[in-house]
Amino acid sequence: GAPIDVDLTPIADGQIVNVFWRGKLIFVRHLTEKEVADMKAVAPASLIDPAPFAGRVKAGHERWLVAYGNCTHLGCVPIANANGHEGWGCPCHGSQFDAVGRVTRGPAPINLPIPPYAFQGDTKVRIG
Ligand code: FES
Repeated sequence: GAPIDVDLTPIADGQIVNVFWRGKLIFVRHLTEKEVADMKAVAPASLIDPAPFAGRVKAGHERWLVAYGNCTHLGCVPIANANGHEGWGCPCHGSQFDAVGRVTRGPAPINLPIPPYAFQGDTKVRIG
C-alpha cells in the first residue's frame, strides 16, 4: 500500500487518533509531558516485552507514539485510558498496554508493534 500522511497539528495533548494503513488500525498518540515522564521512569526489565522508552518513539519527537492498534493477543482493539489507566486496556481478555504501547499485563505476549514511519518536519508523519 501507498504511504499515508498524518497531519499532527489538530491532535491535542493527550489525544489519540486512529488511522488506517494497509487495512490495519494504527494509533497516533500525542503523549502529555506527564506521560513521557512516567514512561521514561519505567524500568524496561520489569516489562513482559522489555523495551526502553527511546525504542518506542523517534528521537527529537518523543511526544508522539505511532503503533499498530490491535491487541497482540488475539487482535481486539484496546480501549484508551480505561479505568484511569495511562495507556490501553483490552476488552477481550484483559491485557494492558502502557502509554507507549508496551504490554504491562498479559495474555498479550508482546508490545504493540511500531509500523514504518518518519517525520516530515515537526507536524506531519508519513506512515509506510
Ligand atoms: Fe486482547 Fe485477548 S485479544 S487480551
